[in-house]
Amino acid sequence: MTVRRKELHLAAHFPGVNNTTVWADPRAKSQIEFSSFEQLARTAERGLFDFFFLAEGLRLREHKGRIHDLDVVGRPESLTVLNALAAVTDRIGLAATVNATFNEPYDLARRLTTLDHLSGGRAAWNVVTSSDAFTGENFRRGRYLDRADRYTRAAEFVTVARQLWDSWTADGVSRPFAHRGRHFDITGESTVPRSPQGHPVVIQAGDSDEGREFAAATADVIFTRHGTLEAGRAFYADVKKRLEKYGRGPDGLKIMPGVTVVLGDTAAEAQEKASEIRRLQVSPQNAILTLEQIWGVDLSSYDPDGPLPETDPVPEPSITQGRTRHGDTVAIAEKWRALSKEKGLSIRETVIEASTRQSFIGTPEAVATELDEFVRRDAADGFILVPHLTPGGLDEFVDRVVPLLQERGAFRTEYQGATLRSHLGLSDPVGRS
Ligand SMILES: Cc1cc2nc3c(=O)[nH]c(=O)nc-3n(C[C@H](O)[C@H](O)[C@H](O)COP(=O)(O)O)c2cc1C
Repeated sequence: MTVRRKELHLAAHFPGVNNTTVWADPRAKSQIEFSSFEQLARTAERGLFDFFFLAEGLRLREHKGRIHDLDVVGRPESLTVLNALAAVTDRIGLAATVNATFNEPYDLARRLTTLDHLSGGRAAWNVVTSSDAFTGENFRRGRYLDRADRYTRAAEFVTVARQLWDSWTADGVSRPFAHRGRHFDITGESTVPRSPQGHPVVIQAGDSDEGREFAAATADVIFTRHGTLEAGRAFYADVKKRLEKYGRGPDGLKIMPGVTVVLGDTAAEAQEKASEIRRLQVSPQNAILTLEQIWGVDLSSYDPDGPLPETDPVPEPSITQGRTRHGDTVAIAEKWRALSKEKGLSIRETVIEASTRQSFIGTPEAVATELDEFVRRDAADGFILVPHLTPGGLDEFVDRVVPLLQERGAFRTEYQGATLRSHLGLSDPVGRS
């Protein structure tokens, strides 16, 4: 067997409040009941995935003063769910998205170490910095932390967490810690002994320049939206290049875009299925809602099958609250209008075309080949699969694509080690003292 240069990594994103979810499908089940989390995690483990991933929302999003349709089912707390999953799974990594703006290092480091102990070394933390006044109200902090300060706090947060994780030696001796910085001034002793991984795996998901720098300095994995071959290769090169100045080699940081997969027995069948899923995801009503989130105003009088508004988006206040920022909405509107004019697309068709993320569509053979090619061509180190169905959305991938990846030597045929660090091929924790 030839020795492969790179190993492909896979993770499962639990669907729910993301805009790929199709609730109208009769097979869709609860996004809150434990059986749903358990089913998807077990499927991913059967497929030998590296980790199971939970996103986080600290306030239900609102649109026109009402809870956003996809959030009406609620958003449970990730670490609690993952601790329960640790009991019904053996090998798969368990990744929680947890905000560095609305938590405290001592408490969070302790909760993550506890998950790492309970799971036998499978914990991961996706450090996000999202903060807006709307979310802050849930924490009585109002306009807490400017955008510019979020990564300063996050960087200091991770530094302190690592100090806490290192405050117990591998042979069980606890040493007091002391940290005095701009955001935290804490001393004491960690209550939990060093966990199997030493440091839970750190994931990062921001995309700004500060976000990329933070990832290069700190993270073990990046969850990115740059999923196409071209954008993926540019992002990959950019971030890997930044590692050197932190004394890190390129293999120490894995880049994993969030992608979707649609399978069919023929290429045409898969394409037909993918178009149908997009039409279900972007219903006429959803098309208007998406447009309103960008334009920031009520557009209910517009016909989803008609042209886009000629007016520009309004600056704050928007009628939408609690969403991750879109960037420059006027520029987006211009881009969408140009797209619509160029291709003669209606509002709904434009939303479908403009909001489609990287999707691998085809026969299992074609999809396996393409996934492997992306990794071989340095557009990614692996993928976070975002299914559109809860909780059965990965069944077909695990049954039909994973064996083909294994056949071509692109993916493991069994878990080699017990910890998530070992699945990811990561050595010592970053910054370990
Ligand atoms: C792929 C991806 C997934 C994200 N998931 C979450 C999430 O689940 N919860 C959250 O609060 N923020 C999430 N974010 C937001 C980012 O972590 C980050 O806080 C935000 O993008 C602002 O950082 P930036 O300016 O560096 O992009 C996500 C971002 C990306 C790119």
